[in-house]
This record gives sequence, structure tokens and C-alpha cells, in this order.
Amino acid sequence: MIKIPRGTQDILPSESPKWQYIENQLKTLMERYNYQEIRTPIFESTDLFARGVGDSTDVVQKEMYTFKDKGDRSLTLRPEGTAAVVRSYIENKMQGLPNQPVKLYYNGPMFRYERKQKGRYRQFNQFGVEAIGTEDPSIDAEILAMVMHIYESFGLKKLKLVINSVGDLDSRKDYQEALRNHFKPVIHTYCADCQNRIDTNPMRILDCKIDRDKPEMKTAPAITDYLNDYSKSYFEAVKAHLDRLGINYVVDPTLVRGLDYYTHTAFELMMDNDEYDGAITTLCGGGRYNGLLELLDGPKQTGIGFALSIERLLLALEEEGIELPVENPIDLFVATMGETADNYAVKLLNDLRHQGVKVDKDYLSRKLKGQMKQADRLNAKYTIVLGDQELEQNQVEVKNMQSGETSSVTLDAIASYILEEMK
Ligand code: HAM
Repeated sequence: MIKIPRGTQDILPSESPKWQYIENQLKTLMERYNYQEIRTPIFESTDLFARGVGDSTDVVQKEMYTFKDKGDRSLTLRPEGTAAVVRSYIENKMQGLPNQPVKLYYNGPMFRYERKQKGRYRQFNQFGVEAIGTEDPSIDAEILAMVMHIYESFGLKKLKLVINSVGDLDSRKDYQEALRNHFKPVIHTYCADCQNRIDTNPMRILDCKIDRDKPEMKTAPAITDYLNDYSKSYFEAVKAHLDRLGINYVVDPTLVRGLDYYTHTAFELMMDNDEYDGAITTLCGGGRYNGLLELLDGPKQTGIGFALSIERLLLALEEEGIELPVENPIDLFVATMGETADNYAVKLLNDLRHQGVKVDKDYLSRKLKGQMKQADRLNAKYTIVLGDQELEQNQVEVKNMQSGETSSVTLDAIASYILEEMK
């Protein structure tokens, strides 16, 4: 038997209403914040991620699904959305659009070859937001407020927003040097990746999953001590906005994100739930990326954004015992007795559906009792039983399944009756 690939999942019909509910809710919120949807391809040139996400990151070094197409081009299934959105922004010269900044959102599958774990998949669905074209602390605050709004709108309460500033590129240079000096004497005791990282990108050492418990990790210099005046005041301004908005947060100077493009504001939203037994607690992550557009040969514009996976949002809902209101009963079940009535029902259903009624019938030649059971399973709000007599008299009893009341309705008035009753 051929099985589903490791780290992927089927979203079965019993689960998909939750996904639809979440996606609709996200869309509604995006309208309120005035963000518009962008859809980019599932695969991109490998170079986009190597350059954009960073050659020394785990995502690029270990986790990409990269392949050659028949024209010998190296392509990669997108491991994240930001680089692709920025690529599209540059290619479509969105800096020239009349509405600035450009506020975008996306929702779709991403691919990372990671070790499977609760909340960690090889194909997962990211919903993400990018605001490109302004460097103003108020947009950083808007993004953070939006993250909290999204999670709280689903009823989640046990949340911890962790923020940091990783500074501008200048601050980062000094910090990288300080990290090099800190780790140099002991780097031979670290993993092979870290031994490379000390030259290529020492901040990545702080994010190492193998060496994270080594003593030098705890005594490593903090980025906050290396922020220049501009970076410091930018961070202060973002925090002041958050305070005015009444958004609770924790500043963690050791927060470094797994992707290289971040500058200034970096953040993660965590589950704040002591009872949770999964290793993965990060629900959402993001930050500002001031150098990314230029790195990808684009204009001197800056951006900020975040992404969350719907898989982890569902996990958090489950942990907090929150049920989404996803019941979707049908309006009407048409039970039939005899071949003539069943043939008539085929046309009746077609007419009713065109008039806007959610309706179903039996397809398995069930006896009347079985058909009524099926109506129950489908949670039908109304039922009718159609037989020779009803057809002859052009009259049918419509039964309200909740109250048990019935009303006599002519066959051609069923749709208008049901639609009126449900108003
Ligand atoms: P990221 O932290 O790599 O950032 O991923 C963002 C979110 O995607 C995570 O917090 C998590 O919810 C989800 N996620 C990541 N990997 C997996 C996985 N293997 N299985 C399930 N969920 C996962 C980014 O991707 C950035 N592009 C975010 C961003 C947008 N920064 C600025 N703009």
C-alpha cells in the first residue's frame, strides 16, 4: 500500500471546516487592516532562498526540497514566503504603486525537510503578512497588534509575545565580531556546523539545536548591548507603541530567528501553557528586514512581516480546549418512496440548489427508516418525504427537525418556504 509521505498530512473532510473557518477569519481581519492577498508560485529559483533566507541557515543548508527541472534549472519548493513576496514586489515594481506602503498577505503550503515532531511538518501551511515600503515603528506595532488580534480572535488566551531587536546592519557587524571573540576559544568543542558558522554567521551559533546547552551559550554577549543609537531608539519607539496599545510582551535579548534577513524588530509568539507536552511552542514568528530588498537587487525599501502555520494554530486551539463554531448542517433532506419519486427528486434537488437551498437525498436505495437516519447524520434542518401521493397532489409535508412541526407546501414552493423559514 502506498502511504502518505512522512511529515505530511491529509486534511480530511472532518477537519477541513476548521481550516475554512480559520482562513475566512484571517481574510476578514486582513480587510480590517487593509492588507491584500498575493499568490506566488510554490517553487522558485533556488538562488532566491540561498541569497534571501541565507546560505548559512538550517533552512537553506538542510531543509530545502531542491530539484533540477528538465531544463537543468535548480528550483526549490518554497520553505517560506517572505523571499518570494519580496521577489514579486521587486519584479512587479510595487514601489511604484500609488498605495504605499504595500501591505500584503499570503496563505499556502511551505516545505521544509525537518524531523517530524508534534507541530512540525515537512509540508505545512503558512499564513503570512508583509508590509513593504516604510521604516516607521508604527507599522512594526501594527504587525504585532495584528498577530495578537489574530490569535485572540479565536479565543486563545495562553499566549506569550517575545520580542527583541537584532539591530541594524551596522550594529549587527559589531555584535558578530563580539560573538566571534566569545566563541573562538571553545569553538573546537562545538558541532561542525557551528565551526563553520563562526566565520560565516556567528549569530547562527545561538540558534544551534545541538550545542544549545553549552555554558558559553548562556554567557554570550547580548545583541542589546551592541545596538547603536538609531537601533536603540527604533526599538524604544516600537515598545512605546506596544505599551500604548496595551499589548503585553517580554523582551528576550537572546531571541535570534532562524532566517538571516532580520534587522531591528524580531519576535515570536509562544504558547504560554505549562500543561502542554509538545516540544514546539512557537506559534508564529517574524520581524523587520531592512536589507533584504537590496540583497535581492531591489530598491532601497524596507519591510516587516510574520508568518504562522495553521497546523500550530489548530494545536494551540486543541490545547486550550477551544472548539471552533464549524457546524454546517444541510437545509433539507429529501426522502423518497418509489422509483417515480426518486426520479422526480433528482430534478427537484437540482432546482432547489439553483435557488440557494443546501439539500441532499439518498443514493443507496435505503428504506425510509434508513433515509431518515441519514437525514439525522447530515443534521438536516428540514425533511420531506416524497411518494406517489405527494406527486399526484402536488403537496408535501415539510418537517422542521428541531421543533417536529410540519407544514403543507406545494412542490414548487419548497425553496421559497425553506429560505423564508430560515431567515
Ligand atoms: P519561521 O519562523 O521560519 O518564519 O516560520 C514562521 C512560522 O511558520 C512558525 O512560527 C511556525 O508557526 C510555522 N512553521 C515553520 N516551520 C514549520 C513546520 N515545519 N511545521 C509547521 N509549522 C511550521 C518565516 O517563515 C518567515 N518567513 C516569517 C516572516 C514573514 N518574517 C517576516 N515576514
